[in-house]
Amino acid sequence: MLKTTKYLAFAIVVFFACSPPEVEKEPKVGPIVDNAMVVSAMEEASAIGVQIMEKGGNAFDAMMATEMALAVCYPFAGNLGGGGFMVYRMADGTIGSLDYREKAPGAADRDMYLDEEGNIIPGLSTKGALASGIPGTVAGVFEAQARFGKLDPKEIFEPVIALAEKGWAVRKRQADSFERLKQTFIEVNGPNTFYSTAYPEGEILKMPILAETLKRIAENGRDEFYKGQTAEMLVSHMDSIGGIFTMEDLENYEAVWRDPIVFNYNGHKVISMAPPSSGGVTIGQILQMMEPYSVGEMEYHSAEHIQLMVEAERRAYADRNFYLGDPDFVDIPIEQLLDEAYLKDRMSTFTPNKATKSEDIAKGEVMYAESMETTHYSIVDADGNAVAVTTTLNGAYGSKVFIDDLGFFMNNEMDDFSSKAGEPNMFGLIGAEANSIQPGKRMLSSMTPTIVEKDGKLKMVVGTPGGSTIITSVAQAISNVVDFGMGMHEAVESPRFHHQWLPDRVIFEPGAFDSTLIQTMQSNGYIISEEYSRIIGYVDAILVLPNGKLEGGADPRGNDAAIGF
Ligand code: DON
Repeated sequence: MLKTTKYLAFAIVVFFACSPPEVEKEPKVGPIVDNAMVVSAMEEASAIGVQIMEKGGNAFDAMMATEMALAVCYPFAGNLGGGGFMVYRMADGTIGSLDYREKAPGAADRDMYLDEEGNIIPGLSTKGALASGIPGTVAGVFEAQARFGKLDPKEIFEPVIALAEKGWAVRKRQADSFERLKQTFIEVNGPNTFYSTAYPEGEILKMPILAETLKRIAENGRDEFYKGQTAEMLVSHMDSIGGIFTMEDLENYEAVWRDPIVFNYNGHKVISMAPPSSGGVTIGQILQMMEPYSVGEMEYHSAEHIQLMVEAERRAYADRNFYLGDPDFVDIPIEQLLDEAYLKDRMSTFTPNKATKSEDIAKGEVMYAESMETTHYSIVDADGNAVAVTTTLNGAYGSKVFIDDLGFFMNNEMDDFSSKAGEPNMFGLIGAEANSIQPGKRMLSSMTPTIVEKDGKLKMVVGTPGGSTIITSVAQAISNVVDFGMGMHEAVESPRFHHQWLPDRVIFEPGAFDSTLIQTMQSNGYIISEEYSRIIGYVDAILVLPNGKLEGGADPRGNDAAIGF
């Protein structure tokens, strides 16, 4: 097993620190392996995924293992109390995707976060009992593994349960966030809650109660979470803190197989997540709006390059926020939104070297087709090799509600709905009617698990967290590889920028972009923000190299790790 260390990066940094400044830097390369790889937010989780593949499991067995391990050692976002999306591509080229996004509880109401005057009550959709949707993660990993996996889930859960029992070493950034949020955890869960202690860096954190929950799930399968003792404990806890979950909500929860969004970009086929994630449609719009402009011939991160991408992002997010929602509840004109002529027309107002104002950009005018029913396909089984999964609690530690008797945090995914048309959510995203709250509806997501294919062969598996910045980070990672020929690590590490229509500003990673570039863009009418943003993502990706080997791109912005054999 090849363990990722940052030694390569470190060696290069040391080398260049001692070198004359004019020496051109060699691009950094991620770990390269022959056969199989997992890249995730934590080394422990990547290692457990790899261990399962070494035992004869496939990518879907590794998915279950990695996702459950993240629920143990990455409580920030790894979860049992959240949801996610998975896009896959089998070795024979068969593709598909699974939606295990949370759903609004049956008792949810479109105005549930508004006061009598119709104003949003701050915090209600982000913190505490009312912020959570019905979790989908356990249903998702069991659905995927049951359909395509090879091993017994009990075998897959073994190392995960051991991780919860034996513990993992708390990382610095985890320790910092435990400290920062300690009072909030106490305020939400009481003084005796598990995270009333801010566990310090290096402490081996054991989670015996979560281990018991995982043992029951391993033993009884997904029904343990949706119908069994765990379900009853969850409903009763949520009830005791003023929540609205019912047993019926949990019993009714199903993960849904969906047709992925597929589009071509500069000779590559891109396969990404369909609504209720906006990811696939929106990266499709961004990349295809850029395509006619020969991006690869531009100087990388020049004003010309960044402005083109920003203008495509501005227009795509305006459409995203108006048209997209849960396809089981709203008609979404997907084909029209990805239509070449439509996208060309959207860019007709683009003037190089002059910012378009977001106030001058609205949604595009799209003609709805007669019948816009969403279709759900059951994908034909085959042994496969590529899985891209994005999973979340939404905010850090979700709603901050920690179910002490079960050992996990609950999501605050309800904030991804549009609580009130035209009002921004926690990522500043403005929503519309398509994403209003309805019982049993899935909230719109930006999660963008994506697979790229070239000449009928797998090329790249990519995704990231980062709220509204997910889509632009994934688009940049793809463009870095496709247009600029970067390797995986280089494409992931490269500085990122973001624009989401509203607010009308370009976010740059602080200190990472040239001041001349920023001045040029400002004089071209762009509002630039270089303030530290926690949400520019941690891209974790794998690239199939021309010789068939796999290069991992574990984002150095986090504790992420690429491991393989
Ligand atoms: O589904 C979404 O778009 C959000 N709930 C994702 C949240 C996220 O990425 C948080 N990470 N920074």
